[in-house]
Amino acid sequence: MIYLDNAATTLEKPGVVYKTYFDAVRRYSANAGRGGHRMAMRASEMVSDAAEAVAELFKIDAPERIAFTCNTTLALNLAIHGLLKAGDHVVITGMEHNSVLRPVVHSGCAYSVAAADGFGCIAPAAVANAMRKNTRLVIVNHISNVCGQIQDIDAISKVVHARGAFLLVDAAQSAGVTAIDVVRQRIDMLAFAGHKGLMGPLGTGGLYVGAHVELSPLLQGGSGSESENVYQPSTMPDLLVSGTVNAPAIAALGSAVRYVQALGESALLSHERALADAFCARLREIPQVKLYRSETGGSGVVSLNIAHKNPVEVSSELDTKFGIAVRSGLHCAPLAHKSLSTYPAGTVRFSFGYFNTMRDVEKATDAIYKICKA
Ligand code: ALA
Repeated sequence: MIYLDNAATTLEKPGVVYKTYFDAVRRYSANAGRGGHRMAMRASEMVSDAAEAVAELFKIDAPERIAFTCNTTLALNLAIHGLLKAGDHVVITGMEHNSVLRPVVHSGCAYSVAAADGFGCIAPAAVANAMRKNTRLVIVNHISNVCGQIQDIDAISKVVHARGAFLLVDAAQSAGVTAIDVVRQRIDMLAFAGHKGLMGPLGTGGLYVGAHVELSPLLQGGSGSESENVYQPSTMPDLLVSGTVNAPAIAALGSAVRYVQALGESALLSHERALADAFCARLREIPQVKLYRSETGGSGVVSLNIAHKNPVEVSSELDTKFGIAVRSGLHCAPLAHKSLSTYPAGTVRFSFGYFNTMRDVEKATDAIYKICKA
């Protein structure tokens, strides 16, 4: 099987991630933050070490401002529902995933959509035009899970802060892939996946909340702290984290983050983009193939359609006849597909990861040639 569905989750992880995870499951699976005994304290240390690793990667000066979650969706929900109040206005972009669109709609707040161009690029001026006097929050998808477009967070951040709103960046596809500096880029909140570009285990993610951002907790429950208090503690991360955490998975995420950091800034982006570039260069020779990719070269995510073929049929053929795993349809991102004019059928998405090679690109392009010829 050639796995080209890294935007959904990275299948292969660095060896150190498996090792940390299985060691932690076997030897350190006591309940983090619940008990003064050695085993519980060891589990707490693993979680704190992972928070330190994430903080270093994203240049966060206080690791306690990171709440680990089970995925990016929970992180986005914590941020959106925690911040918004009745009467607030929100700006989202035309490239957002349902993990942003649905909680924003559910919040009941008025929202506007900053339009993307036909390649999925959001101009800072489009964000400025969508903002109103009462815009409290702007949410931007950093790298598209549909076409790999990378948004200019620095420029968008300037527009957002010039108008006094908070910036929440959805880093589901960018965390680990490209450099993120929450201080320099003035990112007020960062929601990230642990199991995609960071190559940690499934069921990991997190939310960074700047010290100047006050959130209400979405969930209430045991935090292992202030147990006499009937209210959720106001200190991070306990404000946002209730109940037992998956400490072994978080510890493995910590190892994954250190691994990615050691590879160097944007190492994954360079590798994945080179594969996607080669893939697109070969496919441009086939007239039946329409590619959906950034004009300026995006990430390792590329969408395409084949004339007169339904994307679901194509992905099924790739799987059953060629042993190639991709994702087709709307990718939980109907807004993005509307922006790219691929709604409602969607596209066939190829997403390259750190462990893919040029040989995988050749096999995938050969398979598409054969599908087009048949
Ligand atoms: N959001 C993930 C994807 O794009 C699951 O496949």
